[in-house]
Amino acid sequence: MNKVRITGTGSYAPKKVLSNQDLEKMVETSDEWISMRTGIRERHIAVNETTIDMAVKAGKAALKSSSVKAKDIDIVVVGTVTPEMVFPSTACHVQSGLGIKSGGAAFDVSAACSGFLYALDVAEKYLKGGAAAKALVVGVDQFSRIVDWKDRSTCVLFGDGAGAVVLESIEGSGRGRKARGILSSRIHSDGRKWEMLYVPGSINPSPFEHKRTELPYLRMNGNETFKVAVRTMESSIKEVLAESGLTADDITLLIPHQANRRIIKATMARMGLDNDKVYLNMDRYGNTSAASIPIALDEAARVGRIKEGDIIVFVAFGGGLTWASAIVRW
Ligand code: UT7
Repeated sequence: MNKVRITGTGSYAPKKVLSNQDLEKMVETSDEWISMRTGIRERHIAVNETTIDMAVKAGKAALKSSSVKAKDIDIVVVGTVTPEMVFPSTACHVQSGLGIKSGGAAFDVSAACSGFLYALDVAEKYLKGGAAAKALVVGVDQFSRIVDWKDRSTCVLFGDGAGAVVLESIEGSGRGRKARGILSSRIHSDGRKWEMLYVPGSINPSPFEHKRTELPYLRMNGNETFKVAVRTMESSIKEVLAESGLTADDITLLIPHQANRRIIKATMARMGLDNDKVYLNMDRYGNTSAASIPIALDEAARVGRIKEGDIIVFVAFGGGLTWASAIVRW
């Protein structure tokens, strides 16, 4: 039976590092407040490079770590809410930037911090349904362009970056509990809660309408988002575990969206998971939105935290509201 497997990972973070101490000079904050409340110590900031540049670099690294050639990719799906252009999509730029064959398909998915898992889910369904055999899935965001750098309640939280995976539909990946690949993937949203976390549009006003007054900066109800995050992370993990006939004890490694260490710790406690079963890197990246899970996955793979047969769970939540999870036997 065909299974969709992750056969390559890659990531990219811009060179410029902005530490909590640097932020102390920009807004009324402290390293102590930021690290105690979030677990973040520094983040990467894109300077004179775009979402497209970062996505191409992460995609290139993912292809290099797999045995797939760019020309053999059928479909490119990019999760992002900070595209460089309104159109063409970031995915179309990745397609041309990496020399991926023309005539396949390339498109973006908008699901904020759940963007990578949404993109993974869509690509997995294409591959499972037989419409494509190989996919490149990217999560990329450049929140340094949408946060208000005078608002201490949000600007300290985010960073820029990109992560990518190569997906392949592989025959003979085993059946049932022994199957390798994506065992289950689920995506959800609740559009009624959009005001909890959003960025107003930045498209030019038309001469036919009233002037818009809201500046295109990220707005967030942090406390509410925190509570919803803990609830949805737990329910999402349980959902894919149940779907694949596994329990929390079977999890080798949880790779969650890296928004806040306290959210993740609370989720681990609710799930009864030991702290050594989670991969954390928000101390060095902050919240990179759609890039956070694929960057963490790439790091975990490169430092040997993932071995063949391991059960890996990804889980995310974000603006929309959106939430998503996936479970993989590596
Ligand atoms: O990917 C999804 C994106 N969003 C999230 O995941 C965010 C989820 N929420 C959170 O992570 C947390 O709610 C925050 C980290 C945003 C805030 O932490 P908190 O423990 O919920 O703090 P708070 O908002 O209740 O603020 C506590 C205090 C306030 O002061 P007062 O009213 O108690 O005097 C804030 O004004 O901390 C103050 N504060 C700060 N102080 C120093 C807020 N931001 C800062 C700051 N530095 N950067």
